[in-house]
Amino acid sequence: MIPWEFLGEAVVPGGDTLRLTKRNDEFSIRTEGYELMNSRAHGSEEVLAKDGLQRLGGRSDCRILIGGLGMGYTLRAALDNAREDAAITVAELVPEVVEWNREHYGHLAGHPLKDPRVSVFVGDVGNAIKGEGPWDAILLDVDNGPDGLTRSGNDRLYSKRGLLSAKQNLTPGGILGVWSAHADPVFTKRLKECGFAVEEVHVKARLKRGGKHTLWFAKKTK
Ligand SMILES: C[S@@+](CC[C@H](N)C(=O)[O-])C[C@H]1O[C@@H](n2cnc3c(N)ncnc32)[C@H](O)[C@@H]1O
Repeated sequence: MIPWEFLGEAVVPGGDTLRLTKRNDEFSIRTEGYELMNSRAHGSEEVLAKDGLQRLGGRSDCRILIGGLGMGYTLRAALDNAREDAAITVAELVPEVVEWNREHYGHLAGHPLKDPRVSVFVGDVGNAIKGEGPWDAILLDVDNGPDGLTRSGNDRLYSKRGLLSAKQNLTPGGILGVWSAHADPVFTKRLKECGFAVEEVHVKARLKRGGKHTLWFAKKTK
């Protein structure tokens, strides 16, 4: 068995630690004994961007916010499905994750940070939602799901207050997309209570195989 090679460590604001390791061409980011990301499973992360942007119907001069960067698959899918006049901001809480993308694994998703349509916001995506909007699409994959398993500070993004902030900072017809490792009927109900038109989609982790992940596409209709 080939051993994992340690590449780097980062402290997440709030205290947890992220560890980046590599084995052959496979990369893994773990936190506190739990795998946050593996480079072999990224199908549902890509569908988040592809299906989210399709729901915008090809509007021009789109402003798209993605949180967070991770291994860059959602960002790559957004680039591949956005027009040339789009502007995409990727918000990433951990500065080292941005460095790792540039130094170690940018090739996994075709070096998305090199695309001139992309700008990086190093910080909490909640602050980018409020401070840098309005957005045509906000695509959130910052945690295991709306229950903020990895980082309790992320709960506020998925709370009623967080969802209303996202809605307030979306353009009319704009889309809030949310990724989750599991279904969450309470969250679906909360999105509806916030006045979004909600679609819930279930996608296999590697598209044709793997456990099912849940995506929500919540449209601001008024
Ligand atoms: C599961 S990964 C995202 C994977 C990504 N969709 C991809 O395609 O590779 C979650 C990322 O969100 C970042 N993150 C966590 N909480 C955040 C927050 N509140 N604001 C911005 N980034 C955050 C983590 O550091 C991590 O890089």
